[in-house]
Amino acid sequence: MNVLNDCSGKVALVTGAATGIGRSCAQKLAEAGAIVIASDIDVEGVEKTASLITEAGGAARAVAQDVALENIWQDVIGDIKAQEGKLNVLVNNAGIAIGGGILDMSLDDWRRQSAVNLDSVFLACKHGIPLMAESGPGSIINISSIAGLRGAAGLAGYCATKGGVRLFSKSVAAECAAGELPIRCNSVHPGIIDTDIWAREIAGIAADNPDMMTDGGNRINIDMVAAAGVPGGKPGQPDDIANGVVYLASDASSYVNGSELVIDYAMTAR
Ligand SMILES: NC(=O)c1ccc[n+]([C@@H]2O[C@H](COP(=O)([O-])OP(=O)(O)OC[C@H]3O[C@@H](n4cnc5c(N)ncnc54)[C@H](O)[C@@H]3O)[C@@H](O)[C@H]2O)c1
Repeated sequence: MNVLNDCSGKVALVTGAATGIGRSCAQKLAEAGAIVIASDIDVEGVEKTASLITEAGGAARAVAQDVALENIWQDVIGDIKAQEGKLNVLVNNAGIAIGGGILDMSLDDWRRQSAVNLDSVFLACKHGIPLMAESGPGSIINISSIAGLRGAAGLAGYCATKGGVRLFSKSVAAECAAGELPIRCNSVHPGIIDTDIWAREIAGIAADNPDMMTDGGNRINIDMVAAAGVPGGKPGQPDDIANGVVYLASDASSYVNGSELVIDYAMTAR
């Protein structure tokens, strides 16, 4: 650990921590000294994340949580107040990607994606900020995407949620500063990162592009996506995002507020 990532004694909640970027954020925050509450709708996965952390000597516990449900947010925050007594870092990472054209997307899918990706961030802030405010300096880190910076054919619903996360984050930063609350809020914008999200609903974006599919048509070939879009041609790894998240969680970023950390190997730089 060095001064750039010291999170000793901070209590950190990470959503979507059963796998991928969320698991990596939970592990890296624990390595940096944080006490981690790892939450996910996938109970088995998030329990595994907590055990990996404790087996490595870190502090963590797992929580079952659907981030789209307000009453569960109230329970989770209330439970952290009762058990840990404070909340310093909130990483809103849980997300889904439903691919497909605008003409084909059902309103149910649009709403489900918005609930998981965007409503969740609002609920997290609404119910988390009061506890964070009484806990001392705090940092909210919202995982957006490069899809929150620019549009993409076949990903309109996802882009809408991630663009919403970007400007909501800036508004949280502005509102906390205006209210003299000691809470910073920033968004993180990953590029093409090698996680299971590419095996889930996002596969719809490749429906018209079978060359990009692998594993019997169930998974997008991420190497092909990266080769087509990322300068250098390689996908990133979850730790590449987690390292940025730990910096934003630590006091080394204490003047970084309302900003966007783009981690995409120059994919959007051109
Ligand atoms: N992988 C990428 O290329 C990429 C790029 C940009 C942004 N992102 C964003 O990063 C975040 C993490 O994605 P990932 O790539 O690790 O995906 P992932 O699919 O591997 O992990 C997402 C996690 O969120 C959980 N989740 C889904 N719905 C939930 C709900 N309702 N309540 C609680 N948990 C829920 C899943 O169970 C899973 O553990 C997402 O917000 C995603 O949009 C990913």
